[in-house]
Amino acid sequence: MNNKAGLNIDGQTFELDTIVGSEGEVGIDITKLRAQTGAITLDSGYGNTGSCTSRITFIDGEKGILRYRGYDIAELAKKSGFVETAHLLIYGELPTSEKLSAFSKQLTRYQLIHEEMLHHFEGFPSTAHPMAILSAMINAASSYYPTLLEKREERFDNHAARLISQVRTIAAFSYRKAKGLPIIYPKSNLKFSENFLHMMFSMPGEDMDINPDVARALDLMFLLHADHEQNCSTSTVRMVASSKANLFASASAGVCALWGPLHGGANQAVLEMLEQIHAEGDDGSKFLQAVKDKTSGRRLMGFGHRVYKNFDPRALIIKEQCDKVLAQLQVSDPLLDIAKKLEEIALADEYFVSRNLYPNVDFYSGIIMRAIGIPMDMFTVMFAIGRMPGWIANFKEVMEDPSSRISRPRQIYTGPTLREYSPIGERS
Ligand code: ACO
Repeated sequence: MNNKAGLNIDGQTFELDTIVGSEGEVGIDITKLRAQTGAITLDSGYGNTGSCTSRITFIDGEKGILRYRGYDIAELAKKSGFVETAHLLIYGELPTSEKLSAFSKQLTRYQLIHEEMLHHFEGFPSTAHPMAILSAMINAASSYYPTLLEKREERFDNHAARLISQVRTIAAFSYRKAKGLPIIYPKSNLKFSENFLHMMFSMPGEDMDINPDVARALDLMFLLHADHEQNCSTSTVRMVASSKANLFASASAGVCALWGPLHGGANQAVLEMLEQIHAEGDDGSKFLQAVKDKTSGRRLMGFGHRVYKNFDPRALIIKEQCDKVLAQLQVSDPLLDIAKKLEEIALADEYFVSRNLYPNVDFYSGIIMRAIGIPMDMFTVMFAIGRMPGWIANFKEVMEDPSSRISRPRQIYTGPTLREYSPIGERS
């Protein structure tokens, strides 16, 4: 490869540099394109645009590969845990036992939100969506830590630990508030996912028996969601960070981007879809017919992915986990049967096969969460808890990159050309 790419515009040839990633992916460097040619590129939805170079996560969508810092997701799922993986993502290496213990201690130390923040919960109506509460509370939390604005590099480790730990506390508190239940504080002797279950489901004065299989399944779900390179919410976090906004403001923006049903909101949308199919007495076949009819406006939620044109490797792990959890909890869920039927029909159907539409991570995660007792409107919140280390790692990468510039795309304007202002009485 000669490290150059040619571009011909109106008979004039321009030479552009190329950059090759560590896994062989080729990018054409267009940073000087406008200066050299006057033209810009247009790539709606950014399907062909690399917005950055990154050392954090590698995906090969054609082969169904996902790696965090070089480690395969299936190996991490089997051998690691969420907290260790969070360290890996943020600091680039698997921690030694001393480092892991120090990191876990930080998470425990910062797990309590500022007591005054409890007043903010009072302001939300009981109908508030937990994602609205989460993004608002993460942003509000920034006002309690002035060092987020000054000395931010020096205090990064503390703020990162605070955010990973507190997002879980805020999530559980918002659930309790919505249910009108007393708030349960975290316990220092519990591990990350156990503590979340304790804050969600304990009663004051009572010790809850935490099912280790459920805690492990939850931990695995967080791990599988921990990063996914330049998806919509992570790109949002990087974009906000590029303006040098603080870590909490950037993460809060990530939560908002995640909320949409085409992104993190898909896990809730999958369950709603399965419930609707079940309520209509359909086994999934009628629904799939409707999906294929583009005028119906329906999509098979939990299927398809911008990057994976083969199986989403996380979906394979989560499907296996789903069967395990349901068996352990002795839950028989008709929605799981519908999901399996939908998958079976879709994977043999020309419409889905020809468009490379496979189940994504959200297709089965909702069924696990339902079995654990997580309410449907909390599903995307669970995704946000898991994704926090990835957002933080990406924020750190932006902040540490000396060549980082504010993200400011251009556009091709297609509106009216210059026209004269007409007085109100002369307008038709
Ligand atoms: N059901 C039915 N048809 C679909 C689906 C689906 N789930 N997904 C894509 N298609 C079709 C489109 O209609 C389009 O068909 P066409 O070529 O005949 O017009 C073709 O497949 C390509 O789809 P696009 O929308 O162009 O694909 P894009 O990469 O923009 O979208 C997305 C990816 C948003 C994930 C899409 O597949 C989708 O809407 N899936 C359902 C929502 C979902 O599960 N989102 C979670 C994503 S994973 C995550 O965020 C964790």
